[in-house]
Amino acid sequence: MTHRRKIIIDTDPGQDDAVAILLALASPEEIEVLGITAVAGNVPLALTERNARIVVELSGRPVPVFAGCDAPLRRKLVTAEHVHGKTGLDGIPLPEPTLPLQSQHGVDFIIETLRREPPGMVTLCPLGPLTNIAAAFQRAPDVAGRVAEIVLMGGAYFEVGNITPAAEFNIYVDPEAAEIVFRSGVPLVVMPLDVTHKALTSRDWVEEMRSLGTEVGRAVASWTDFFERFDTEKYGSAGAPLHDPTVIAYLLRPGLFSGRHINVEIETQSELTLGMTVADWWRVTDRPVNALFVGGVDRDGFYALLSERLARL
Ligand code: RIB
Ligand code: CA
Repeated sequence: MTHRRKIIIDTDPGQDDAVAILLALASPEEIEVLGITAVAGNVPLALTERNARIVVELSGRPVPVFAGCDAPLRRKLVTAEHVHGKTGLDGIPLPEPTLPLQSQHGVDFIIETLRREPPGMVTLCPLGPLTNIAAAFQRAPDVAGRVAEIVLMGGAYFEVGNITPAAEFNIYVDPEAAEIVFRSGVPLVVMPLDVTHKALTSRDWVEEMRSLGTEVGRAVASWTDFFERFDTEKYGSAGAPLHDPTVIAYLLRPGLFSGRHINVEIETQSELTLGMTVADWWRVTDRPVNALFVGGVDRDGFYALLSERLARL
C-alpha cells in the first residue's frame, strides 16, 4: 500500500489549474485532497473560488473549497483574462456550482489544517500566486515547520518570463509572497516554465479527451482549445503548456521529471526584473540550496498519466 499523501491545493482556476485539480481528485489511492483554497490570480477571487467549486462538482468527488486572499500582500492584483478568458474558465459552458463555499477563510483553513495534522504529513500544492501560503506563514509562523514540502508551479529561468521578459505570472503577481515562501526553509519542488513549456498539448491528445464521451473529457478538451489559442499564437508552437498539472503529476510519478537542487531567490526590488526567479543553476554562489528546480519532463509519460486518470472521472 503506497503512502497516501495529504495535500492542500491552492489555486487560481484557470483552465490548467482545473486539469490539475481533476488529476488530483482522480487519484484517491495516492492523494488525499484535504481542501482547495482559492486565491486571486488569473481572475479575481470571486471567480477563482467559483471556478474551483465548478471543477470539484464536475469531478464528483466531494472536497471543501475555501476562498483565500483577494489581492497580493502589498501590490495591486494583476490578472490574465487575455489568457484564460473573462470567466477564467472559458470553454464549454458549465452550470453554476451548487457546492457551497466554506465560510472559513482559506488562510485560516491552511493554518488550522497544518496545526491539526501531524508535522510533516501535509504537502502544499500552490498553482497560482503565493499570497495565501505567505499569509499563513506570516499569521502563524509556527506552521511553516509543519509542512512536509511545497510543490508549486511558478518561476522561470532558461525559459525566461511569460508576463514580463523576466518573470513568470504566479511569481510576478505577488513577489513579496514568493520571497516569504522561498525563504521559509520549507522543502520546495518548483515547476517553472522551463519544464511546463516542454509539456505541450497535442491535437491528438485533445481529441482523445473529447472522445472520452464524458463531461470531464468535453470540459478538458474545450478548456485546452480555449487556452491553447493564446500560446500557439504567441510561441508559434503546435500545442500549449499545461502548466499546473505538472505539480500533481510530480506527486504521482516523480520519475517523469528531472531537475537540480539549487538556490532560487526572488527579485522584489527592481521594476525591470520584478518577480524573476534567480536560479543558481550553475552554483556560482554559496547561497543555500532551497529548491528542487525542475527542468525536464517525459512529455509522453505525462500525457499518458493524464489520459489514464482523467478517463476515471
Ligand atoms: O504562468 C503560468 C501560471 O500562471 C499557471 O499557474 C497559470 O494557471 C497561471 O496561474
Ligand atoms: Ca494557476
